[in-house]
Parts: sequence; C-alpha cells; structure tokens
Amino acid sequence: MRTVVVYHSQTGFTRRYAEWIADAAGGDCFTLQEARKRDLSGYDAIVYGGWACAGQISKIGWFEEQIPAWNGKRLAAFCVGASPADDPEGQVFLDKTVQDLAAANVQVFYCPGGLNYEAMSLRYRLMMKAFLAGLRAKKDRTPQEEVMAAMLGSSYDISDRRYIEPVLAFLSETQKDQEEDC
Ligand SMILES: Cc1cc2nc3c(=O)[nH]c(=O)nc-3n(C[C@H](O)[C@H](O)[C@H](O)COP(=O)(O)O)c2cc1C
Repeated sequence: MRTVVVYHSQTGFTRRYAEWIADAAGGDCFTLQEARKRDLSGYDAIVYGGWACAGQISKIGWFEEQIPAWNGKRLAAFCVGASPADDPEGQVFLDKTVQDLAAANVQVFYCPGGLNYEAMSLRYRLMMKAFLAGLRAKKDRTPQEEVMAAMLGSSYDISDRRYIEPVLAFLSETQKDQEEDC
C-alpha cells in the first residue's frame, strides 16, 4: 500500500506529526507546496495535516478540492492545535469538521501540538495576543477557558507521538482491506 502525507505547518508542530505518520506508515511526506506540483494518483492512502486556525484546518480547501479525483482511495485528515486532546472545545471543533469531511468519506483526527511564539509570524502573534486579551477580559470563564487563558501566555509543546496511533490504526485497516481483496 502506498501512503502519502501532505502537510501545511506554520511553526513546526504539524510538520512533526506528518513526519511521524509518514515514517511509521512507510510513506512519503510532502509539504502542500511540493504536493501541488505532484501527481498523487498512484497513492492508495492520502493523509492531509493542517494546523487549527480559528476553528478550521489550515488549507483544507486544497484537500477538499482533490477529493472527487481521489475516488476509491483511503483519505484521512488530521488537525494540529493548541488545545489539549481532552479539551471538549476541541471536540466540538472536530465534530464540525468531521461532519463536513465525513460526507466525503474522510476520517478526521485531532493531534495536540502547542504554541511556538518564536516561530510564529508577527501577524499571527498579534492575533493570538488579541485572542488572549479577550479571553482574560471575559467574565464567567469556563474551566476550559481558564486552562487556555493560563496556557496561551507563552510557548508550550504538548505534542506526542502516541497521538498518531489512531491515524496508523486507520491506515492499517486500509492495508487489511486490500489484503482481503481477491
Ligand atoms: C491565528 C491563529 C488561530 C488559531 N486557532 C486555533 C484554534 O482554533 N484551535 C486550536 O486548538 N489552536 C489554534 N491555534 C493554535 C495553532 O493551531 C497551534 O499553535 C498549532 O500547533 C500550530 O501548528 P504548526 O506549528 O504546524 O503551525 C491558532 C493559532 C493562530 C496563530
């Protein structure tokens, strides 16, 4: 089975997950920029990874546009965000994304990344600063918002290789399906 992982990363967390997945699945790994120049039709499984940007998976539009041409392939997308894996807000976000992509037969996963202010562009640093100021000013914060308000003040890394396990399980299901084909 040929697998390719395509990713879009700003500060490195999504790249790290993409490389972990490609390495464990024995597949190729391309940036979105590289993937745009390539023909991916020879792959059996295509995995797209983007970072969480205001409730969206970054550049997911590119992936969604290709779906009709990838009929019959196993498709997965993973999203890397600043929220911990057990954050119910993250789950809400994922549910919305899942609804949109599930209809197109795409399995979606969430992988916690973190924040890297040092590697972030000035524009995004300012956006995060404004978001954090809003969160701190908010009255009646939920316990989850309290956690995020405390975390978002500085860089942190909550990425872990164990979060790729569900993605690998999904890809190995693909392999089993193929082995069962006559
Ligand atoms: C403008 C902006 C919006 C963001 N929105 C979200 C979000 O909705 N949910 C989330 O969990 N993280 C959000 N983040 C945090 C990033 O998704 C997180 O830092 C991620 O690990 C970055 O991945 P990268 O290193 O591959 O760029 C946001 C960050 C920025 C700069």
